[in-house]
Formats: sequence, structure tokens, C-alpha cells
Amino acid sequence: MFSQNKKIIRDIVPNPFSDQYIPKQLPVRQDMVDFLAEKYYRSITRGYGGTDITLIYGSLGRVGIGKTTIAKASAYKLEGIARNRGINFRWIYINAYYVPTIHEIINRILSPLSRGAPARGTSLTDKLRMLSDIIYTNALKLLIIIDEVQSILLAGKKDEIEKFYVLMRLHETLPIEPGDSWIGYILVAQDNTVLSLFREILPQVESQIGHRILLDPYRTDELYKILLERASSGLEPGTWDDSVLEKIACYYGIDCPEAGDPVGSARKAIIALRNAAEYAEIHGLGYINDLAVSHALAEDAGYSVDRAALSSLSKHELLLLYAIAQLTLEKGDYSTTGEVRRLYEELAERYGEKPRGHTQVNEYTRRLAAKGLIIARPSGRGVRGRTTLLRVAQEIPADRLRSELYLILEGKVELG
Ligand SMILES: Nc1ncnc2c1ncn2[C@@H]1O[C@H](COP(=O)(O)OP(=O)(O)O)[C@@H](O)[C@H]1O
Ligand SMILES: [Mg+2]
Repeated sequence: MFSQNKKIIRDIVPNPFSDQYIPKQLPVRQDMVDFLAEKYYRSITRGYGGTDITLIYGSLGRVGIGKTTIAKASAYKLEGIARNRGINFRWIYINAYYVPTIHEIINRILSPLSRGAPARGTSLTDKLRMLSDIIYTNALKLLIIIDEVQSILLAGKKDEIEKFYVLMRLHETLPIEPGDSWIGYILVAQDNTVLSLFREILPQVESQIGHRILLDPYRTDELYKILLERASSGLEPGTWDDSVLEKIACYYGIDCPEAGDPVGSARKAIIALRNAAEYAEIHGLGYINDLAVSHALAEDAGYSVDRAALSSLSKHELLLLYAIAQLTLEKGDYSTTGEVRRLYEELAERYGEKPRGHTQVNEYTRRLAAKGLIIARPSGRGVRGRTTLLRVAQEIPADRLRSELYLILEGKVELG
């Protein structure tokens, strides 16, 4: 298809769909950011009441749930506060997964502060002394964010862990007068296994973690708000509507009853929105429709029409599924069981089959839903009476499914 390439994604910098983008005000969990920034600000202005170490970690096995974002957004916020009050504040972000040794981590901290990295072969002790000199002589307030901190502990090298300990005690080398120099830390870890690692390997550090923040996977309403901010800032007006965001949010929301992949990941949701926008752009649609959303989700789910799965369906199930695919395409949304049955009966007659009755059709519907091919959900408000609403599963592109079903029904493909 030759498209006019109607633009959907805005060309702006920073691009709201890039991985580095952080909204000035987070649509969700801004309260956590405000709290952390305030807490560090107090510590900076009041001087030491111990070390300031915060640990941010996620629910087991969850990614894309905002750990890195909360840490960086807190640093940005603190930077803003400090600037307004004339405080010499800096922050440094290091991902320990990519920077495997403490030596290298210290280099990364030193080089932006000291115009160039220290000479090769400088000992760790000397580097640490350089660092505390710079902090002291500039009355610098330095926030160090170490992301994926479990990498350091998991590597398990005894001398590395000792060096890490020294880094975490760096503030002890500074004079105690409040308002002068300051060092704080935000450690970010994947999940709570880092706590037992700390307890085992570095109990001294574990006991100094003053604040722990556990992040849960995102709920549907939270993902919706995150997507709304990206769509409003990153997409051309008039190319999207709420239903697009709702469908993606529900697909990944931890609490959505129809979720296809309830991982609660903001990253996945944002990528899906971008992919849906690209699909619509490439196909010259002018706006993001239901099919574009399905193609985007299919990309993430790695979905392809599975002939073997379809071959396990009876002729009547194929006809019913065809009807649902057709209506999903036409409406870009759910249809009532009544609408589906009417089209199914029409199709059955066209293919020389006697349409099956209510009970049987309900049974077919249940089976198609159990196979994950369709979603069946009770009608809510807005639909008269109580009925079941049906559509093809959100991550299955209804156009692809329909053409495949057509070929099968026409006897144009061999089923395995
Ligand atoms: N509360 C939030 N508000 C806005 N965007 C968010 C929020 N949480 C996560 N995101 C976005 O989701 C993506 C993944 O978040 P990230 O912090 O990298 O997850 P994690 O570190 O837990 O894997 C990023 O693009 C990030 O900007
Ligand atoms: Mg992260």
C-alpha cells in the first residue's frame, strides 16, 4: 500500500518515546519523587545525621516498573531545588551492570568532576582521596545513583565488595560541618534478593539503608496515565484517542481482567504505543486504530497465526471465529453475542452448514476464549440487558486471522 505517510509521531527533542525521556512531572508516583527529593534536601541543609542511602527495588521478576525513573526523577527534582537556592549540587548516574568494577565506577564519578579521568594506574585510595578533596574544596553536594547494584554483589569478588564498602563510606572522609560538603546515595536493585545479599555480604551497608522503596508492577489506571502523558507530548493531535491508551494499558495492567500479558511494565506499554503509531503511519491510516494496536501487541507477543491451533477447531468454531474476526475489524472493538450470532448464522448458511443453537454456540465461545483466541467479557453499563461481549484477543491482528480463516474455510490450505 502506498501511503501519504500522514505524520503521527511528532518530531521533537527530547523524544517522548526514547528510553531516556523522563517527564518533568511524573504522571504516576510523583509523590515518591517529591518525598525523596525533600528528604535529601533536608539532609543536605542539615548536615549529617548518618549516611543517606536509599534503596529502590522492584517486585520479584518485574522490569519496566519505574525503578530507574524514580531515582533519576528525584535527582532532577533535587537539582532544581538546589539551583533555586544557590546550592552547588551534582548528581551522577552509573549502571553497575555495564560498569563492572568499583575502579571504573569511581572513574565515572571522578571524570565529570575533575575534567578528565585520573591517570591510569592511580590507586583506588588515591582516587578516593581526589574525590573527597574535590567534594570538600568545592563544598559540593553529590548524589550518586548506582543502578543494578546487585551486579556488584553478585559478582561476589571479595576485594570488589570491600572497595564498594569504602565507596559507601566516603562521607566519613569529609568534615562534619553541616552545609558544606555532602554525599548521598540512591541504590537501585532488581528485587528484594538484594537485601539478603547485602545482609550476607555487607551487613554494614545494609544497616545504613535508611529508606527502602518497593515498587509494584503498574496497574491499568497507572499505565493509562503514563501513556496519556506520552501521547499528549509525543503524538500529533487528532491521531489517537483514549481507547487506544485504554487497550494498551489493559493489555499490560497487572489488575486488568482481560489483560493478555499482565506484567505491569510501563516500558512495554510505551513501546506498544510507539509501535502502534508507527504501524498507523506506515499504512497511511492517519490515526491509530484498533488494528494498529493489535499489530503492535503482536510484535511484542511474537504472535503469528498458528495454523496448527486453528486446525484443532471444528468447522462451526471456525465459522464463529470468522464472524468475531470480521466484527472486530469492522468495529475496532467488542460486539454483542447477538451481533456475532447473526453473522455466524449467515456464514454457516453460506458454507452449507446448519447453524447450531444457543447452547452449542455458547460452548464454542467458551472454547475459543479458553484457547486465548478471543476475549469474552460481561457487558457493563451502556449495553441494554446483560450479555457477553466478544472480540478477537487484542494481540491477534484480526485482519491476519480473518484471511487465514478464509483460506481454511475455502479449502485453500491443508491443515496439518
Ligand atoms: N511513573 C512513571 N511516569 C512516567 N513514565 C514512567 C514511570 N515509570 C516508568 N516510566 C517509563 O517506563 C519506562 C521504564 O521505566 P524504568 O524506570 O526504566 O523501569 P525499571 O528501571 O523498573 O526497569 C521508561 O521509559 C520510563 O520513563
Ligand atoms: Mg532500570
